Amino acid sequence: MTAPALQTTSLEEAYHRTFLRSYALYQRALKRFPNGVTHDGRFMLPFPVYVNRADGSHKWTEDGHQLIDYWMGHGALLLGHGRAEIVAAVTEQAARGTHYGACHELEIEWADWITKLVPCAETVRFVSSGTEATLMAIRLARTFTGRRKVVKFYGHYHGWHDNVMDGTGINHDHPLPGVLPEVFDSLISLPSHDLNRVEDTLKNDSDIAVLMLEPTGALFGGVEIPDGFVTGLRELTSKYGVLFLMDEVVTGFRCAPGGAQEHFGVKPDLTTLAKIVAGGLPGGAVAGRADIMSLLEIRLDPVWQANRKMVHYGTFNACPLSAAAGIAALKIVATGRDIALANERADTLRRRFAEVLAGRGLENWHVFGTFSGVKLSYSNDPRVSRRSNLALIHALRQGMLLHGVDMVGVDGLTSSAHTPQDIEHTAQAFDDTLAWLQKEGKI
Ligand SMILES: Cc1ncc(COP(=O)(O)O)c(C=O)c1O
Repeated sequence: MTAPALQTTSLEEAYHRTFLRSYALYQRALKRFPNGVTHDGRFMLPFPVYVNRADGSHKWTEDGHQLIDYWMGHGALLLGHGRAEIVAAVTEQAARGTHYGACHELEIEWADWITKLVPCAETVRFVSSGTEATLMAIRLARTFTGRRKVVKFYGHYHGWHDNVMDGTGINHDHPLPGVLPEVFDSLISLPSHDLNRVEDTLKNDSDIAVLMLEPTGALFGGVEIPDGFVTGLRELTSKYGVLFLMDEVVTGFRCAPGGAQEHFGVKPDLTTLAKIVAGGLPGGAVAGRADIMSLLEIRLDPVWQANRKMVHYGTFNACPLSAAAGIAALKIVATGRDIALANERADTLRRRFAEVLAGRGLENWHVFGTFSGVKLSYSNDPRVSRRSNLALIHALRQGMLLHGVDMVGVDGLTSSAHTPQDIEHTAQAFDDTLAWLQKEGKI
């Protein structure tokens, strides 16, 4: 683990001194990438750490520091880094070919696992990411219903394509830069606690094709949704002939082997999968009712082709490497053991964080989360977004990194590879970091 640089120096100074090689790499990156990063979420003040190896629940920075990882591949690594079964499957497949430009048996086996595990999955189409999956599901819903509009919920993230950009976290009144006003106008965003408002919306607008949500609440439970909400949405969408899309890009295989739809006992019309489904490699899928999915079929009927067929290509659809990794992951996920283990670790971490916060008298801070998610908030005021105080979030992250822990800002995801020792180390790191932030008057 990183030896905590003792609090004789400022947090930021210690961070600079500890992650010197990362700093040097960031100077190079700044010349190549906007902001020096390749994903908005990896932006960090004053600079991010650079990682060159990972194993189990740990990763190692270019500076030689070992970190307990709570990013877990943006959620893709429920089984931790380098799980033996997945490494073996990918290694073997890499030697046999990474892209055949042809159908292959692994894609069938991969889809067999999805249809076996995920309740609504009658048929499947593979894509390369979660963003592509929601893009496809929305297009399918529009094609199937002949309607235009999409209903989503505030803060729910469904990727970064135009159809789902409601200005979440920034504004809900006008399109984000680059998003066409007419696309923005076809998106209706609602609060995620009010079934009456949902019903009014569906009842009074006959142009709604699909209602979509993250089934455990925005950002994997970052904004909790009331009990019965998902069931209520199923009933309302059926009543008003709107398709129900559960975006299980994160919850798929974190909540249960069949995702949140198994957990809630609610079958959507369509579901989107990515992250865990591809075993930590790039990949995603849309699955659902066969009659809706059939719109992807090519038929020798020009009328069908012109009016019903939804066009779909994608160079890396069902890439053999991702298929091999995905099959290996789903076989393990199917037992439920790893999901339960990751949940148990998150539960303990949430409890330990709460103890630390109480011990430091930080009454405005809260820890919450469901399943394998751990979330922190630093304000009692519900109008204060957990993501608003960038300086504090980045200071917290610097402190945690200095103490050998990599959190996703104020969030974290556990895996089945995290050990009780990792959790205890993380709680101690949190306490030490908060002490430092208190000493510097940052909290
Ligand atoms: C619920 C949800 N949907 C869609 C996406 C987009 O997936 P990707 O990053 O693979 O494009 C994400 C990514 O975090 C997600 O959490």
